[in-house]
Amino acid sequence: MQKFDTAIAGILDLSKVMAPIEEAEGLPNPFYIDDKVFGAERQRLFFDTWACIGFAKDLVEPGCQRPLDFLGVPLFAVRDQAGELRVFQNVCRHRGMTLVEQPTCARVIRCPYHCWTYGLDGSLRATPHVGGPDIKHHPRIDPAERSLLEVRSTVWMDMIFVNLSGDAPDFATHVGKLSGRWREFMERPIYPGGDDSSFSLEVDCNWKLAVENYCESYHLPFVHPGLNSYSRLEDHYHIMEELAFSGQGTTVYDPKLDAEGRRFATFEGLSAKWDRGAEYIALYPNVLLGVHKDHFYSIRLHPLGIDRCREEVEIYYTDPEMLSPEWADLRRRNAEAWKEIFVEDVGVVEGMQKGRHAPGFDGGVFSPVMDGPTHTFHHWVASSFQPH
Ligand code: FES
Ligand SMILES: [Fe+2]
Repeated sequence: MQKFDTAIAGILDLSKVMAPIEEAEGLPNPFYIDDKVFGAERQRLFFDTWACIGFAKDLVEPGCQRPLDFLGVPLFAVRDQAGELRVFQNVCRHRGMTLVEQPTCARVIRCPYHCWTYGLDGSLRATPHVGGPDIKHHPRIDPAERSLLEVRSTVWMDMIFVNLSGDAPDFATHVGKLSGRWREFMERPIYPGGDDSSFSLEVDCNWKLAVENYCESYHLPFVHPGLNSYSRLEDHYHIMEELAFSGQGTTVYDPKLDAEGRRFATFEGLSAKWDRGAEYIALYPNVLLGVHKDHFYSIRLHPLGIDRCREEVEIYYTDPEMLSPEWADLRRRNAEAWKEIFVEDVGVVEGMQKGRHAPGFDGGVFSPVMDGPTHTFHHWVASSFQPH
């Protein structure tokens, strides 16, 4: 597959970002304001690795098809006859028309232009009039050579991940350390909460600032006074896995969403750590996750340009019973509580985006005590641009 030029990052000196935290500086300003760097990131940080493009819950039945934009690359996901989710480049092999314009369900994938028709497995099944009126074949067009272009994909914790380049290490390796850390959650089914548990925010900042802010707990007392009143800075710990993920955990998770003391069902059989533990981890590049004994959420970060991104939030519960109307008020309150916290962060991530236009800013410095998770992320970005 054609790769885009990533050499631009080579002319930026990233040695200070690669340095140990005590000596490191953050990523330089062009990583936040220069479209050429954004283009290089698109290839190196998104297309060459595994990135999340959507949620499997949005394609329930075989035949469901959904267009998904991946940083300007048109893709679509489809659930095939066997119930497996597959991802294809959203382009007809005839003259390049996009195939799936909006979410739909059908037994085939039909091009709206000249009606070439593909099976849910991507095979080209029909080419009407291709050899002239009412002639369905022509020697120039071999259907076996004109299947849809499938993209390497997998589903993990309901998120659809793709590796567009096709040559990243396999997904199990990519996610192995995190799967191990959260094994207890991975082994249990999760249930999407429905419309009241799904929302998105658009934010005027580079996507990396959303990751950086999510990773750290340092800002808690200043940006989240409500949260900090019961989950204080000192109740948090850092989580850092080089070249893979970083975040933070708390030891005092104790949700009180209901005055009458109702609580969501918890995942069965969790170890004692999770009685009051919760963890919040950014899986690089674009997934922000939260695990708790009674719910899981994932946020897909969708860059809309170098200085704007969308955060798509999906909340999941432990038990189908939690999806019933009797629990709707509590689900809504949970979603609102999270939304309030994420909205509290908007001012600082947008402020950091503006700050990146200050020509004298050198990428900043990291507190070796407080900023470890952010440094781990910057180190991953810089590492991704090292020659290999
Ligand atoms: S472009 Fe799709 S059938 Fe012609
Ligand atoms: Fe925050």
